[in-house]
Formats: sequence, structure tokens, C-alpha cells
Amino acid sequence: MPNEKTIHIVTLGCARNQVDSEVMAGELHRAGWTRVDRPETARVIVVNTCSFIEAAADEAIDTILALAEFKQTGVCRRLVVTGCLPQRYGKSTGTALSEVDVFLGTGAYDRIVAAVEEKIERACLLPDPDAIDLSGHGEKRLLPAAPAMYLKIAEGCNRHCTYCIIPALRGRQKSRPAADILKEARIMLAAGVREMVLVAQESTHYGADLPASDGLAGLLRDLATLAGAGKSPVWIRVLYGHPESIDTDLIESFATTPGVLPYFDIPIQHASDRILKKMGRKYDAAALRDLFEMIRSRIPAAVLRTTVITGFPGETKADFSQLLALADEIRFDHLGVFTYSDADDLAAHALPDPVPAETARDRMARLMTLQKNISREKNEHRLGRKVDVLVEEMPEPGLWMGRTAFQAPEVDGVTYVHADNGPAPAVGSFVRATIIDAMAYDLVATVDAQKMDTNESDFPRAG
Ligand code: F3S
Repeated sequence: MPNEKTIHIVTLGCARNQVDSEVMAGELHRAGWTRVDRPETARVIVVNTCSFIEAAADEAIDTILALAEFKQTGVCRRLVVTGCLPQRYGKSTGTALSEVDVFLGTGAYDRIVAAVEEKIERACLLPDPDAIDLSGHGEKRLLPAAPAMYLKIAEGCNRHCTYCIIPALRGRQKSRPAADILKEARIMLAAGVREMVLVAQESTHYGADLPASDGLAGLLRDLATLAGAGKSPVWIRVLYGHPESIDTDLIESFATTPGVLPYFDIPIQHASDRILKKMGRKYDAAALRDLFEMIRSRIPAAVLRTTVITGFPGETKADFSQLLALADEIRFDHLGVFTYSDADDLAAHALPDPVPAETARDRMARLMTLQKNISREKNEHRLGRKVDVLVEEMPEPGLWMGRTAFQAPEVDGVTYVHADNGPAPAVGSFVRATIIDAMAYDLVATVDAQKMDTNESDFPRAG
């Protein structure tokens, strides 16, 4: 007789969604549900979806339809879809996907146990995303068995970028009180976290909506104190910054707070002033140049990551040339490119002069070729350098995979580690290694030593 309370959870989309899935998994675990890896053995299947761009929504629908098959061929009795897909498309998702028993929007994932245990029937619950309750996340969440864990510090966004649906899906910014975040960080530390990755829609704006807050800089200080009190080193990384909410004080805190990696993830989206204005971004290319100059002059070894969009309505050859020129000039360590994805619920949909999809893809390819060369050159420059590597996996005997401080999880490259001349690394530990080979995105290193207790990264810092 198969276990009646088995659940299979699939997460699509961003790191913030991953945290939501872990909160739902925690609630289900407490209600007696066991998570299984194989959908064919699950009584209930949950798909936590993304709908940021058309391709993400298509992927979500394909995934739902493929998993719905297990209602015929497996032991699945119930299919629950959560997150951004139902939040964006509302009740029409229910009509189009009749295989799904319950839809929970982004403000309703606290109803997951009721949805799974058949206390809600054939419903599509879409409460106001501003009703999302982030309190007690730490206690609710089932942490991943991984050295790097995401820590959501806020939800929602107050900006109005014309290409972005996320504020409509996640509501206005709601920063979690620092005490609540620190409580979750303590649980993560007790579980052996080696890298805390702070995420939000706009992490660098953290705290602006709280009555009394020292912002992200204050939170980083508190997290560093907490992490530094432990026996093992812990990296603290921040993802999803915004050019307008990074100032000299914040850069200073990245430069001087122990354990905080001088890794700046700052999506700029474009570098043509005309296009930035149409996108609803309130800075210009000159401000971007000043910002990157400010970061690099304070922290010469700072790592810069960005993302950009090609094919935004009205983007001319000249606009694109400005974007290409800025990418060439700044030489980001990491650069991701998306093509503009149109939809009639976006403000940008009303803009004239759409760019043909082929042109947008061609521009994306040109940027990626440029970036590939920059990344390769930067990686080759690192040959022979000694680095700390956080070991995350052993894909095959004698080979380990991990990341250096300049590689963020999932979005950047990885470092393969050999241990021919040094001690075999343990997954979840830091090793000191020498870089011996460089590809465009990934590196190969050989272990010198297990790295012992220090909470300092190997970045040369400004004093
Ligand atoms: Fe996608 Fe929702 Fe994240 S739309 S990118 S899963 S906030």
C-alpha cells in the first residue's frame, strides 16, 4: 500500500520562488507529508510556477500538463499549482488547465496544506499579494540540504518598470523585520549553511518601508556578527540590487563587513538613455558609469554582474550600439541577456515600434559573444591564483564541483576541483585551491589545503 501522504514539489522560476517552495514544503512536512523525488510515487503533485516572461509561462504550462499525466499513470490524486502563473492569468488559468485541482496565487501559499488535503475544492485563490505574510518564515521553512541557501529579506517592489509584471504579482515592497530575518539566519547556521544568499525584488532597497531600519547595510552588519560568531566561515552574498538604491554608504558596508562578498548584482537593463526612460528606469548611462566607477574605486576587486534586455520597443541600432559599448567598456564579470517579452498586461505593450523577434535575438547573440570573450579573458587572468572554493557536490569520484566567491549559485559558472596533491574535500567545506584551467564561464582548480576557520573571503579588500 503506497504511503498516502507523499508529495512531489516542482519549482520553476527564480530564487524567491525556491524559498516559497521551501516554506510550503515545511508546512507540509509538519502536517505529516513526505517529499518524494519521483512524481510517479506521489499522491499529490505541486507545481510552483513562474510567469515572468512568455517562455516561463509556456514552460509552466508544459510542466503542469506533463505532470498531470501521473493522475492517469501514477498514484497521483491531486494536482496543485501555485505562484506566479495563476497570479498573472487569474481564473482563465483554471479554465485552460482543467487537470489542476487547486490554484494558489502568490498571496495564498499559506493555504497549501488545506489545498493538498482536499479542504479546498476546485478553487483559484488569488488574494491581494500585499497580503503575503512573511512572518515566521524561518520556522516554517524546510531548508535545503545544501551549503548555499537563499534568505528572502523582502517581497514585492514599488517600481514601475514598463516591461515587468512582478510588482503586479508580488505587490509593494514588504521588508521583513531584521529580527525575523536574523531568527531565520540562526536556523540556517544551525543547519550548517556556508553561504547565505540574500534575495528580494530589490535587495538594496531593503528596509525603506520599515518604520526604523538601518537598511541593507545594517542588516549585513547584524548577519555578519551572527555568522562570525560561529566556528566556520560563512559567505554572505546579495543578489538583485538596483542602481538607484546603491550609495556610498552601502558600498562601504560591502567593503568592510566581514564575510560580505564584494559581489554586486545590479541589473541595468539598458544603456541608452532613451530606452531607459521608456523602460521606466530613472537613471541614465552617465549615472551607471559613475556607479561602477564608485564601486571599483572603493573595492578594486569588486565583482560586477548585470542583466540587460534587447529588443525593447523602439530600440534602434544606435540604442543597441550604446548598450554594446557600455558592456564593452565596463567589462562586467557576469552579464545575462534577455530578449524583450511582450504581453498585453505590460505597460510597454502600448509603446510604438516593436522590434522584430529575430533582431532582438541577433542583438542578444552579439552581446553574448562579447561577454563570452570578456569572461574568458577574465578567467584566464585568474590562472595560477589561489582562491577559496565552497565545495558543493562530488559529481564523480575524484572530482568535486564548487564555486569561488566571484561565482554566484545557479546564475554564474562553477569551479571544478581536483585533489591530486591535496586532501580530498568534503562537500559543504571551503578549500584553498589554485586555478589551473579556465574556460569561458567555468574554472578548474586543484586543492592546496582544507581551509580552516576564518570568516574572511579571499578577496583583496579596500581597507
Ligand atoms: Fe518568475 Fe515570479 Fe520569480 S514571475 S521570476 S517566479 S517572482
